[in-house]
Formats: sequence, C-alpha cells, structure tokens
Amino acid sequence: MEKILTLGIETSCDETAAAVLRDDREILSNIISTQIPIHQKFGGVVPEIASRKHIVNIMPVIDEAISKAGVELSEINQVAVTYGPGLVGALLVGVSAAKTLAFALKIPLIAVNHLEGHIFANFLSSPELKPPFLALVVSGGHSALIFQKNYNDFELLGQTRDDAAGEAFDKIARVMNLPYPGGPEIDKLAKVGNADAINFPRAKVSDFDFSFSGLKSAVLNFLNSAKMKGEKFNPADIAASFQKAVIDSLVDKTVAAAEKFDLKKIVLAGGVAANSSLESTLRKICSEKNLEFFYPSKILCTDNAAMIACRGYYQSLEKKFAPPTLNAAPNLGF
Ligand code: KG4
Ligand code: ZN
Repeated sequence: MEKILTLGIETSCDETAAAVLRDDREILSNIISTQIPIHQKFGGVVPEIASRKHIVNIMPVIDEAISKAGVELSEINQVAVTYGPGLVGALLVGVSAAKTLAFALKIPLIAVNHLEGHIFANFLSSPELKPPFLALVVSGGHSALIFQKNYNDFELLGQTRDDAAGEAFDKIARVMNLPYPGGPEIDKLAKVGNADAINFPRAKVSDFDFSFSGLKSAVLNFLNSAKMKGEKFNPADIAASFQKAVIDSLVDKTVAAAEKFDLKKIVLAGGVAANSSLESTLRKICSEKNLEFFYPSKILCTDNAAMIACRGYYQSLEKKFAPPTLNAAPNLGF
C-alpha cells in the first residue's frame, strides 16, 4: 500500500516548526527553529516579534524538513497545520503557508488543534500506545484532563479555572529574576531545594478542574514579605516547594480521574511534561497503582510539528479536512 506523507506546520507561539511524517507514526524529519533567545531579553514572548520571526523562518524551515526527510515537495500527500490556540499573528503565518502549499500542490489541508497535537506526541514516542487513555495536558496556556476515547473522540474532564501550570511556573520564575521560559529554570533550581521547606496552599476545586492563581499569589506574598522584613530565603527551597504544590494538584486529580473513569493508561503531554519531577512523581504513582504511564521524549514535549502531522494524519482518516477559507483560532479550546 502506498505510504501517506503528511507535512506538519507549527507556528502557534515562539517555535517555527515543520515535520514530515510517514503514515501514522514514522517521523522522517522534525525541524524546530526556536525564538527563545530572542524573547529572553524581554522576559517573555513579544507577539509582534514572534510573527515577524515566523515569516522570516517559515519557508527555510519547511524546506529543511522536506530535504531532511529525503522526499520531494511534490510527494507530500497532505498538509496539517496548527490553527489554534496561540498568538494570532504567529498562527496566521503557519496557516497562510499551509494554505498556499495545499493550493499549489492540490492536496488536502488539515486544521489541527495545538492541544490535541500535544497529546498525539505520545503516539510518536510510544508507537504501541492506543486509546482509550487519560491525558494530562500541561502547557504554557492550558492545564487539562482529557478522556481520549478513540483517535478522534475525546472528552474534556476538567481544566484550570485561572492560570495554566506553565504560566504559573513562568510568572514565579520572573519574580525570582530567572530567565524566560521559567519552567526549566524552576525545574533545575528545585533539584537542589527542599520541597517541604514552605507549605504553599493547594487549591481545593471541585471535580477535575485545577486552579493555580492562589498558589501564585501565595508565593508572591511570601517573597514580598520576606523582602520587606529583610529576611533571607533560599530560592531553591521556594522553587522546590512551589513546584511540589503544582505537581501535587496535577497528580491528585489525574489519579482521581483515572479511578473514576476506570482508565488504566495515563498519558502526559505539553511543555510542562518536560518537568523532571512531574514525570518521576506520576511514574511512581502509576507504578504503585498499576497504571501504565506514557510520556513523550523531551523534543516532543515542547512545541513541534511532528505532533501536529500525527494529529492531522488521524483526522485525515476520517476525511476531516479544512476549507481553503481556514482562519486562525487564537482562543480555540479542547
Ligand atoms: O507546550 P509548550 O511548549 O507551549 C505551549 O503550548 O504553551 O509549553 C511551554 C511551557 C512554558 O510555560 C514553559 O515554562 C513550560 O512549558 N516548561 C516547563 C518545563 N519545560 C517547559 N515547566 C516546568 N518544567 C519544565 N522542565
Ligand atoms: Zn504547546
């Protein structure tokens, strides 16, 4: 049978990425051009700069993905692109490139939800993985628990009512004068800190929702009051105690949801999935509770286009194609 080549394109935030996927799970190329060093001096992503960098990088990145895959552009069967959620100007660059390619090559266009893409990164890292499973999606903009019933059928069980987990990591890092993005910095610092040094609050929210804004305020208050009183504190202890509070909430809800819906497989997804302590804590609990644990490789945790191509491939199996009028959807949810 002829193999399907899907070109994936991702430009939702500060990574310009393109990938070529053969059939469902074989990555032929996965090119990521990150803008992190550019945004670092501003302490966060500057949307206009991000769009301008995407427009400069997009064609060279696609070109590289095609040549690294060892294929010709004319052999690509379909184009899958992130159309939301994300920064509107950034998304529009990828969407326009994908629409142009689909039009010129006369091939189908597939509109992919970035958050679903994060879950599908796990199919690439663990080719044996099949639904049903419970996915914990934790990224810069979202924290959610998803019941993935089949490849194209999922249910949102709960999500954050305020800040996303990654957002909380980035904000705390910022007030601690750590570079952007803050997640990996807190992760590193926490390794040499005492996670039981400060008992930061864990929000009590119903069902499978999360809340991190109270925790964020508690850490900010702690830092301010220590500064005002001239008290010394160990930044590593704050990082470790804050991180533990986030992880406790994420892990407790995940285990409770798995029990309620009788799901035996837990899948971790999104940029915060790169957090070493979140991964090890979930892995340990899963092994204690006889749950199978899946986790993407580091390169597939953060934004990439291979996961977008993979999600797009499964949409194409149900002929879920996008019209040539496709627009960006910056506030797209699950
Ligand atoms: O999925 P992602 O690359 O972009 C979005 O779709 O939002 O996630 C980026 C988020 C940022 O908030 C970043 O600080 C966080 O993931 N992150 C981490 C780690 N690596 C990235 N958070 C905690 N620990 C990490 N090791
Ligand atoms: Zn992402």
